[in-house]
Amino acid sequence: MKFYDKYLILVNKLNKIPDNFNYDLINIYSNYKKDYLYIDKVVYTNYLLLKDYLKKKNINIEIESAYRTHDYQEKLFNDLCMEKGKDYALKYSATKYHSEHETGLAIDICILKNNKYYIEHELNDLKELNIIHNNIYKYGFILRYPKDKESITGYNYEPWHIRYVGKFSNIIYKNNLTLEEFYNLYLKN
Ligand code: DAL
Ligand code: ZN
Repeated sequence: MKFYDKYLILVNKLNKIPDNFNYDLINIYSNYKKDYLYIDKVVYTNYLLLKDYLKKKNINIEIESAYRTHDYQEKLFNDLCMEKGKDYALKYSATKYHSEHETGLAIDICILKNNKYYIEHELNDLKELNIIHNNIYKYGFILRYPKDKESITGYNYEPWHIRYVGKFSNIIYKNNLTLEEFYNLYLKN
């Protein structure tokens, strides 16, 4: 499948990361992890702008997960299989070479509120979530695995997983599309 810039790359169950993917990773500190992690440079710049914007609305987001090596993605998938079974794992975790995290373009965000970090499914309890989801497009991000699009994305709703796509985030958000639908509408030959 063809794509016009690397920020539009489609990585999903059917499309793996190309061997020649052009990484541009930087090492940054995550307050949540209390450790360093890697992320794409342009994605991080835009994440910081998003973070500042949300901070002004009294919402504190942090990075739980960003770039993952192929081996680490494989380990996460296998660990989830062991913990919850393969059927569950396939709904929430990509296999090796099929995760957007292996590109550095995806971020799992968490929210810091009253000195507690809310991660993954815990985010559903927070009213801040809607504000985040309705504003990330302004900084080039989309909610990659929305509710009611499971049959298209192949994954259950993940309120935490945002994906940088760049300038087309506006069209994708305003038309309530997934990246798969955007591809079929605009980028298919
Ligand atoms: N949780 C998403 C699907 C991933 O593993 O990349
Ligand atoms: Zn994720």
